[in-house]
Amino acid sequence: MQGGAPGHRLRVLFVASELFPLAKTGGLGDACAALPASLERLGADVRAMLPGYVSALDAACDKRTVARLADGACLLLARTPDTGLPVYLLDWPELFRRPGGPYQDSGKQDWPDNLRRFASFCAVAAQVARSGDGSGWQPDLVHAHDWHTGLLPALLALHPGPRPASLFTIHNLAFQGNFPLDAARAQGLPEALLTPDGAEFYGQFSCLKAGIRYADRLTTVSPTYAREILTPAFGAGLDGLLRTRAGDLVGILNGIDTLLWNPAADASLPVRFDVDHLAGKQADKAALREELGLDPDADGPLVVGVNRLTHQKMADVILQALPALLDQGAQVALHGQGDPELEAALLAAAAGRAARCAVRIGYEEPLAHRLNGAADIALTPSRFEPCGLTTMYAMRYGALPVTRAVGGLADSVTDIATAHPDRACGTGFAFSDPTPEALADCLRRAGTLFRDPVAWRRCQRAAMQRDFGWEMSARRYLALYGDLVTPETQTRPRPGPISGDNGGRPPALRPAVRWSGAGRAAPDWAEAAD
Ligand code: ADP
Ligand code: GLC
Repeated sequence: MQGGAPGHRLRVLFVASELFPLAKTGGLGDACAALPASLERLGADVRAMLPGYVSALDAACDKRTVARLADGACLLLARTPDTGLPVYLLDWPELFRRPGGPYQDSGKQDWPDNLRRFASFCAVAAQVARSGDGSGWQPDLVHAHDWHTGLLPALLALHPGPRPASLFTIHNLAFQGNFPLDAARAQGLPEALLTPDGAEFYGQFSCLKAGIRYADRLTTVSPTYAREILTPAFGAGLDGLLRTRAGDLVGILNGIDTLLWNPAADASLPVRFDVDHLAGKQADKAALREELGLDPDADGPLVVGVNRLTHQKMADVILQALPALLDQGAQVALHGQGDPELEAALLAAAAGRAARCAVRIGYEEPLAHRLNGAADIALTPSRFEPCGLTTMYAMRYGALPVTRAVGGLADSVTDIATAHPDRACGTGFAFSDPTPEALADCLRRAGTLFRDPVAWRRCQRAAMQRDFGWEMSARRYLALYGDLVTPETQTRPRPGPISGDNGGRPPALRPAVRWSGAGRAAPDWAEAAD
């Protein structure tokens, strides 16, 4: 990919809080791993940037320090172990080297200093974006993801000097990164950001709003969700702002990593299979039933749910519908974690029904693969769903989804009832009302088709053969990047300090980047104060 000046490979700084296998709490980590790898294959020069969580420091290869920062922090350049993607890790021990998850401690409490953690991450990313990494690599464009990086487009936009273009992708509007305004003020963020025209949001400071308000362009992860979030029902309070930016917003459906999620080469499966050799899937089903202690001779469908156990994923509705689903003769296996009350209630509901229902709390990637390999049906309903990778994984493994026609699910699943018989066959079953009754009715419909093996096999083939690869979507991102990056945005004089309406003072975040190499010394925020 050539961007701007002739012979120049477009340079993209891809900034996110998750990137599998370095860090993952859900689909964000999957998407932020597969998209840049695909962009690289198409010729872009992409470098990711991630907080230096313990898991990321452990998993990354070829780490070397490229910059030293204040407080014993430093910027590392490394590679991902699987695709070899270059990735900067902000190794700031005080902020990121701790046990627990990226956002919460092991007791599932949000880290109290999350604003400082992600504001600092964005501040360093902004500096790399504007000044390069000290070794001559400097991006033409910054692609930031979700609330954790929402401040980054704002810091770039409020800076008076030249800067790279910015694109902000919304993976989930429900996670907003809202904090008390005073906390934002205490971080020394520019005053302009603390106003309703900035990132103030119902009396709080919203990192997600900052990204939406200040990025040059916006994307979200499916066309239907892009339309839905312009409405109060799906806009999570941000639909008004999003409507003002509707002309800058596009929905691009995520792909999946078809190498990682490939039943024909999946090392996690007891027996591999493909669309023309489905006997392996039967063997995987038998193995999983044994593993989970489910009745090996049941003749109903094996219904599997691999999802966060949350309100978004209708785990409460699945819980209510469970007796009806089991009464239909289905076996149900659920795996995931989320709301502790729902986890406990689902475990209690499964107790005493061991032959027909298994609930495994937690998340293990190989088990997720085995469950998809074994499943006849994937239970993936959502109240709202920006994209829904789980549903695509299931289809690729020949598990037909029982799901709800919202967001990316509406874009990726063709209901068997609405599929045109002459063109494509349906790939799943979708319902509308978010109720236990509608869910049970939908599963009944699936159960009826399941008893017609020829028709079932036809739909399975259609689901497995659907192209869920990243390439088409990655090309759309490249086209967007191309629109944003012009020869003008590629001239990069020495940047000045971050400003904004802050009395001329720089923010107190002060990552104080000092390049360790012999290259030029980029100004840091502390210097800018002098
Ligand atoms: P979301 O990102 O909203 O959870 P997706 O369906 O897009 O939904 O992606 C879910 C991804 O996270 C899949 O890779 C799935 O296997 C994985 N996953 C499911 N449940 C959990 C969990 N409790 N913890 C971590 N990852 C999970
Ligand atoms: C979010 C969304 C999910 C999407 C994923 C990757 O976690 O909830 O729908 O697939 O991001 O974009």
